[in-house]
Amino acid sequence: MRAAVAVSQNFDDPLSGLALMQMPVPEPTEGWIKVKVRATSINMHDLWTLRGVGHDPKNIPIILGCDVAGVTDDGRGVIVYPVIADAEAGGGDETLDPRRALLSEEHHGGFAEYLLVPERCVLDKPGSLSFEEAACLPVAWSTAYRMLFTQGALKPGDRVLVQGAGGGVASAAISLAAAAGATVYATSRSQTNRDLALELGAAEVFESGERLPERVDLVIETVGEATWAHSLRCLKPGGAIVIAGATSGTSPEADLGRIFYQQLRVIGSTGSTRQETQDMLRFVETKGLRPKIDRVLALEEIHAGMQAMLDGNISGKIVITVA
Ligand SMILES: NC(=O)c1ccc[n+]([C@@H]2O[C@H](COP(=O)([O-])OP(=O)(O)OC[C@H]3O[C@@H](n4cnc5c(N)ncnc54)[C@H](OP(=O)(O)O)[C@@H]3O)[C@@H](O)[C@H]2O)c1
Repeated sequence: MRAAVAVSQNFDDPLSGLALMQMPVPEPTEGWIKVKVRATSINMHDLWTLRGVGHDPKNIPIILGCDVAGVTDDGRGVIVYPVIADAEAGGGDETLDPRRALLSEEHHGGFAEYLLVPERCVLDKPGSLSFEEAACLPVAWSTAYRMLFTQGALKPGDRVLVQGAGGGVASAAISLAAAAGATVYATSRSQTNRDLALELGAAEVFESGERLPERVDLVIETVGEATWAHSLRCLKPGGAIVIAGATSGTSPEADLGRIFYQQLRVIGSTGSTRQETQDMLRFVETKGLRPKIDRVLALEEIHAGMQAMLDGNISGKIVITVA
């Protein structure tokens, strides 16, 4: 079968390690199920793997791709919950299992014609969404859902700042928070993405770093260094930053004085539980939400998709279809 494989890692030239090649069709084993991939989407995670960040080189070569919508052998339309973990080992929460792995970290991912996943990872695809739309949800939308509702304990009426509106997680967070009755402020470096944020339900949009009309209860942060100081300044006393990523760098000035004096809470967030992913899917269907797709490419065009992600020149998700 055709697949996009990480064959080597290079921090400065990540695409040099991405190869389109033939791989064997996987055969199901006990407790694992085969999914025919219809659509998948690119995440920053794929680029981090190619850069050699957070991915053990001993797992190379590996098929990339952690977002999958497809069809099982018995014809069921599904999306794949992308965390392979033991909930018990995490005290009931898969994301706290010290041995958890996202699809494409230890097991082959979805940039291929087929993949194998544990049976419990297969969830019904919402009928209201196309395969392309469904392929945007597992990583970005589930991550945003946990950030807002579990880690951030969002309530209707809360004021929320989402940094970097054009990102996959950020654009999902804007849609979900607005649909949950929060007042959403969003920042972006580009007018296109500020317009996108308004379309998704943001109340007001701002250039990165611009002063907001009021302080907020919650900041959704995935940009990192470039926006961290602004995120801290925008919080009400007692407010929370939930952080799930640091695209622009991981070591901003900590500003500890502000954190203790204003009693701010800094909360990490990674992935989602299977239950949170199911809850997110139900919320998306109930509210009629749809992910914003930047572009749809064929598997053969994956290098172009990865380059666009690398350039940071996107509005929403880049979807890869597999014919
Ligand atoms: N912990 C988890 O479970 C988890 C899950 C998914 C993603 N992540 C991480 O979260 C981060 C975002 O992921 P994603 O898939 O949403 O990526 P993405 O779609 O590429 O979004 C990143 C966004 O950050 C903003 N940005 C990038 N560089 C910036 C800079 N120098 N200054 C200001 N804004 C900048 C951009 O927004 P504008 O262009 O609109 O300004 C960009 O759209 C990544 O680091 C990823 O690894 C973590």
